[in-house]
Amino acid sequence: MNKKSLSNTQELLAEAKRSILFTTVRPEVVMEKGEGLYLWDTDGKKYLDFVGGWAVTSLGHSPAVIAKALTRQSEVLVNASPSFFNIPMIEYARLLVDHTCFDRVFFASSGAEANEGAIKLARKYGSLYRDGAFEIITTVNSFHGRTLATMSATGKKKWENLFEPKVPGFTHVPLNDFAALKAAVNDRTCAVMLEPIQGEGGVFEVASDYIRQLRKLCDEQGILLIFDEVQTGLARTGKLFAYEHYGVEPDVMTLAKGIGGGFPLAALLVKERFNIFEAGDQGGTYSGQPLAMAVGLAVMQEVLAKKLADNAAMQGEYIQKKLHELAARFQLTNIRGKGLLIAFDLPTEQGAAVVAACLRQGLLVNSPQPAMIRLMPALIVTTAEIDAMTQILANVLQEVLG
Ligand SMILES: Cc1ncc(COP(=O)(O)O)c(C=O)c1O
Repeated sequence: MNKKSLSNTQELLAEAKRSILFTTVRPEVVMEKGEGLYLWDTDGKKYLDFVGGWAVTSLGHSPAVIAKALTRQSEVLVNASPSFFNIPMIEYARLLVDHTCFDRVFFASSGAEANEGAIKLARKYGSLYRDGAFEIITTVNSFHGRTLATMSATGKKKWENLFEPKVPGFTHVPLNDFAALKAAVNDRTCAVMLEPIQGEGGVFEVASDYIRQLRKLCDEQGILLIFDEVQTGLARTGKLFAYEHYGVEPDVMTLAKGIGGGFPLAALLVKERFNIFEAGDQGGTYSGQPLAMAVGLAVMQEVLAKKLADNAAMQGEYIQKKLHELAARFQLTNIRGKGLLIAFDLPTEQGAAVVAACLRQGLLVNSPQPAMIRLMPALIVTTAEIDAMTQILANVLQEVLG
């Protein structure tokens, strides 16, 4: 056994490189603690976090609400087994049902797992009501997760030939091209699945009339409309759920990321008429796990009590205003998004350089595509923190873009 000490950053990084399976390039930083909008690394350096744990830390880092919920629940019941109901599971399901257009909830632990559930539900629906239809239409440039089926659902160019053979039954159409979507529907189609705002793809929003036409088409054809709100759900876009912006109700919605505030938690929500799974069709050891349920319940209660959807809408507008002030100076274009899911384009493919320079200057931002920067801070972000972010960003853009 290796008994070397792990008492400083260099030793920790050396051990990380030795023992953690390589899956992605990470910076030479080890994060140690977080509070509100800030993170600190093991050298005590402070970072203003506008990535928010990847649109996850709705209430900021280490919120007391989550600590309390976990402490209280872990003293009472950590795990009863997925074959029993438990109290926080029932309370949380009721809260979700009360605040959405849906009637039933299945709980999971990650966005990909919730989307797998939605895919299975759509195939079940196809087998029961559409003569075995199993194909699902998704959009080019979409992101739905990293399991085999959700990778096949994802419309990411880079993944086209990865981990062959693909799970069959997914067709990709360009977002907001209704004619292409209509042409893709056939007898084998059981569902259309899309993100109301493509998050990982670079913050591209579905058009209102497209989504209304799509809803009508799904009704006429008897196919399911699934919204993947893993990134847009729970106040991120300035409404509790993004579908509320468009005046349409999907049949199925998936949630993850922000609903757990950093704790692994996901949900699949359906209308009563799609309550069609039979015993054994769907499940999971951690489905409805009490600790996750207590956290989800506490996070959502806090989001509602503090009216964080309103804060997301207001602060999102303020961020866009500040970005517009920088736009002419640095040739920033296409400032876009809703609430606290915002992106803009750089004049050149310098996204990675901007992210790295921001990190050096104590600011965390994300570059979903080579010439884009995305911001998705915690829902509790303040104007003072936005001013601080804008200041660092301006310095970095000056340094990188000149
Ligand atoms: C829209 C969307 N769906 C699904 C996922 C996958 O979620 P998870 O990483 O929790 O499996 C993501 C993750 O970024 C996402 O943005």
